Amino acid sequence: MHTKSPVIIDLKFDQEQVAAALKGAFPDREVINLLHPASRKRDLSGVEYAVVWRPGADFFERAKDLKVVFSGGAGVDHVLNLPGLPDVPLVRFVDETLTTRMSEWVVMQCLLHLRQHAAYEALRRERIWRELDQPEASDMTVGIMGFGVLGQDAARKLKTLGFNVIGWSKSGRAVKGFEVFDEAGLNAFLAKTDILVGLLPLTPDTKGIFNTGLFTRLSRKGPFGAPVFINAGRGGSQVEADIVASINDGTLRGASLDVFEQEPLPLESPFWAMDKVFLTPHAAAASDVGALFDHVAIQIARYESGKPLEHLVDRSAGY
Ligand code: NDP
Ligand code: OXD
Repeated sequence: MHTKSPVIIDLKFDQEQVAAALKGAFPDREVINLLHPASRKRDLSGVEYAVVWRPGADFFERAKDLKVVFSGGAGVDHVLNLPGLPDVPLVRFVDETLTTRMSEWVVMQCLLHLRQHAAYEALRRERIWRELDQPEASDMTVGIMGFGVLGQDAARKLKTLGFNVIGWSKSGRAVKGFEVFDEAGLNAFLAKTDILVGLLPLTPDTKGIFNTGLFTRLSRKGPFGAPVFINAGRGGSQVEADIVASINDGTLRGASLDVFEQEPLPLESPFWAMDKVFLTPHAAAASDVGALFDHVAIQIARYESGKPLEHLVDRSAGY
């Protein structure tokens, strides 16, 4: 018989991965996996902890006694808009596994554009053997909008490959080894950027921020004469009609997108057929479910022993 509060799991992830990761997780408390048919209608009153990714709209109406909510991912926009979200600490997932995956994706996309992979694929389809220009990473500046946990790790890894890297964040907080711009420095930041990487949370301030007006302020002085846009933050931060138009009129040379205004990406989206756009299905940095449960168990242990929780979301800032 457990004496500690149960933990609710409501993760819209691969359920086999969740089930495998739950074996042996939270040994000192009951686990209520809401996606398990036997638990769907379960009374959630009295339960103090929940780990959620895109929970149902009525989730917080049902779980009324929560003391801490854990996001199954780094982003929290999937929770913040839900009715009934209690005024309790909200902890996001920050972990080496997730950070590493994101940096791998960002580095891969920057290299694909640097090494003209879309153009080689087009030549391959025509069976044309032709070598293209090979500028070096040091000829390009990657500007990362959203210079937090993920942005900074990607920056460090890009820098070891030789890219010039600059960052943009709300505060413009100094980060050793990088020039960082604040909100007021956006124009100066964009004017230096050949490859723009979006790693922003979705908040009212960042909604639709990646639009034609912003793309036209990017540098055109790089080796290819036009900038590239890469986004793995949130699709709500990009105006997709503007990305399509900007690629078609040459404002942008190409793009890499992992996130979309609507997910899954609708079949009628023009992106599916655009050779200059690399697409992945919101898969840049999936949460490792085992690592997620370890992180939650550590935070619950901290909470129950009176230590401060880590990776807390600032509810007023929205991230
Ligand atoms: P952090 O909270 O560590 O970093 C967020 C960064 O964005 C901070 O530098 C912050 O500025 C900056 N920022 C927020 N609002 C603004 C604004 N209005 N203007 C300028 N800068 C702003 O988050 P993470 O790095 O951990 O994650 C970033 C996002 O990546 C997540 O919110 C999520 O949306 C997305 N993500 C996507 C995944 C995928 O698979 N596609 C996987 C994981 C995350 P400051 O430093 O001043 O606070
Ligand atoms: C996250 C995500 O926020 O996978 O972790 O999008």
